[in-house]
Amino acid sequence: MSRSLLPLLADGEFHSGQDLAEAMGVSRTAVWKQVNRLVNDSVLAIESVKGKGYRIPGGIDLLDAAQVKAGLDPRAAALMGRLEILDTVDSTNAHVMRLAEQDGLTSLVCTAEQQSAGRGRRGRQWVSPYASNLYLSLLWEFTQGAAALEGLSLAVGVAVARALRACDVPAVQLKWPNDVLYDGAKLGGILLEMSGDAAGSCRVVIGVGLNVAMPDAAAGAIDQAWTDINTMTSSQTPGRSRILAALLNELLPLVADFEQRGFAHWREEWQSLDALADAAVVLHAGEVPLAGIARGVDARGALQLETATGLQSVYGGEVSLRAAS
Ligand code: BTN
Repeated sequence: MSRSLLPLLADGEFHSGQDLAEAMGVSRTAVWKQVNRLVNDSVLAIESVKGKGYRIPGGIDLLDAAQVKAGLDPRAAALMGRLEILDTVDSTNAHVMRLAEQDGLTSLVCTAEQQSAGRGRRGRQWVSPYASNLYLSLLWEFTQGAAALEGLSLAVGVAVARALRACDVPAVQLKWPNDVLYDGAKLGGILLEMSGDAAGSCRVVIGVGLNVAMPDAAAGAIDQAWTDINTMTSSQTPGRSRILAALLNELLPLVADFEQRGFAHWREEWQSLDALADAAVVLHAGEVPLAGIARGVDARGALQLETATGLQSVYGGEVSLRAAS
């Protein structure tokens, strides 16, 4: 895929084949071929009108490294190492994990315009259309073993909620363990992947997916109630680069301080954002669903489930929690 055609068409205006060819330093036929490829691969809808040229109706908001960096506050800027903004990748989490394993990287921020095999929790696919949403992976090396990281994924949810607040997006809620919700519909998800020594140094990839402007054509593949920031803000959506910077302003200090502070530092705020606080719920963990009342989380991030046989602590993993119908 061309990396230079799309920025030229991002403004949503018509551009003639001739102008595009000149700007890109290729022939008009090459432009036409690139447009066809993008349309045929369902990457984007590109309109072609004789005598006017090509345009992307409505334009697209491409990620901009300079804008992301300009939006960082001093602490986040000091903590940030390499920033990769990719065009297309299978999964930003998988990409970052590969780099960590092959090149020994210990810190990296990676985002992409599109994921061809975005990973969700519990083996699900994460719908990741082009230039519409945010797909972010942050690699960080921790040194005190996996036990010191309990509750990290919940704290990431708090960081996401804070970041959205900083961008004037209406207040979101969190659903244990890792969903970001607005009005009961899923706005985003968090997927942590870990490699290394459970007792010592381990690398963690923190993946965050946020629906910003989900195209209808892609939404058909989502199998649950969902929403996006565009809907929440009546299309007065902050730019994706601004949201990305706000996420990094929260996430980088969070990872830098987490081993020292632990989840206890985040617990109260997590509870204040809990979408299922004191609600009747059903937990799906093993073969048999477990019904109870959700009573928040403990200092380790374990769900406190009040069941017929007493209070049970439930740790994360391959579990899902639903409001009892
Ligand atoms: C969930 O199922 O709720 C978690 C979704 C996590 C999606 C993000 S998008 C960026 C990163 N790369 C991936 O492949 N997945 C995570």
